[in-house]
Amino acid sequence: MKPQTRFIPFLALAILALLLALWAGLLRLGWSLPSFPNLALAHGPLMISGFLGILIPLERAVAIHHKWMFAAPLASALGWVSLLFAPTFGMILMTIGSLITFFILIVMVRREPAIHTITMAVGALTWLVGNFFWMSGFPIFQLVQWWMCFLILTIGGERLELSRVLHPTPRQIRIFSLLAIALLTGTILSMVNANTGARLSGLAMLVLSLWFLKNDLAARNIRHTIPLTRYIAYCLLSGFVWLGIGGALQLIYGATLAGPLYDAVLHTIFVGFVMSMIFGHAPIIFPAILGVPINFYPAFYSHLALLHLSLLLRVAADLTNQVELRKFGGLVNEIAILMFLGMTVYSVLRGKK
Ligand code: HEM
Repeated sequence: MKPQTRFIPFLALAILALLLALWAGLLRLGWSLPSFPNLALAHGPLMISGFLGILIPLERAVAIHHKWMFAAPLASALGWVSLLFAPTFGMILMTIGSLITFFILIVMVRREPAIHTITMAVGALTWLVGNFFWMSGFPIFQLVQWWMCFLILTIGGERLELSRVLHPTPRQIRIFSLLAIALLTGTILSMVNANTGARLSGLAMLVLSLWFLKNDLAARNIRHTIPLTRYIAYCLLSGFVWLGIGGALQLIYGATLAGPLYDAVLHTIFVGFVMSMIFGHAPIIFPAILGVPINFYPAFYSHLALLHLSLLLRVAADLTNQVELRKFGGLVNEIAILMFLGMTVYSVLRGKK
């Protein structure tokens, strides 16, 4: 493998967005820390359109390698930096980043018209629509279903693609497609009837999580002889469980606007599902982008276990309204993410040697 250092600036900007978003997350939890105007409010956009808005299109641009495609992670990166100083300009740039990502997905669908590419393209479209509402002045709690749908469909499409080796039956594919359509319908509906929309999306998430637990490749790889493959399977399966928990919470509580319930619904999906997927995906994506193999260490399990335990604590605190415990759970969530970052950088550097 030949090391590819030219993508490092993109990765560095994605990681910087994540670190700032984590800092902002602590502010939102009520930790009194140094800050500057716009930072706390930028937490969600920094995570979704900054950190992930760079990584997701970057992975596609590196794989397909058309120069124009790199404009997507570039716009997202310039967007998050601008967001902190000139919010309107930042919103426009981030929306442009999602628009170019949608174009990349159209190229992918035209190359390979299949359920998994279409699912990912619809995912990119929901990110674009969500950003458009955000840019038009809608509050985040009203459009956050679009950002959730973006990440669930993007990850769902990728998992479907990788699970093709198991030759899913037409019936399994039909059920997956129906669930993706239900999720999208719930998201659209949430703009006119927030409660019904959120409940429908929640139901779709809950059943989708059961679908993944049964049909995803991870269910088979949990007993794999290769330790890295087994670790990835644990990340994925635990992420699917959180998707189900988040879906169940949305189904029960409907739309949430702010406060502990909002925190629980959002972060079962964003931390429990999305972060677990990132933990499992990193050993594949970093070698692909950097051209460096990654070494597996059993210590990888420590950040995975810490993430789940601290999230369990945070959600329990949210549901029982215990402010200090929630602050602590959120802090330990962040420690787990920082441990993951540290371990990943370490194993990439070791892989280089
Ligand atoms: C891991 C540590 C994290 C902490 C401590 C944290 C903390 C918070 C807090 C306290 C809120 C406000 C909830 C409320 O209204 O009470 C929030 C909102 C939000 N978070 Fe996080 N979060 C974390 C991770 C993430 C991740 C990984 C994502 C996305 C991938 C994310 C996306 C969001 C979004 C979109 C909102 C809504 C923002 C808004 O309404 O302005 N968070 N977060």
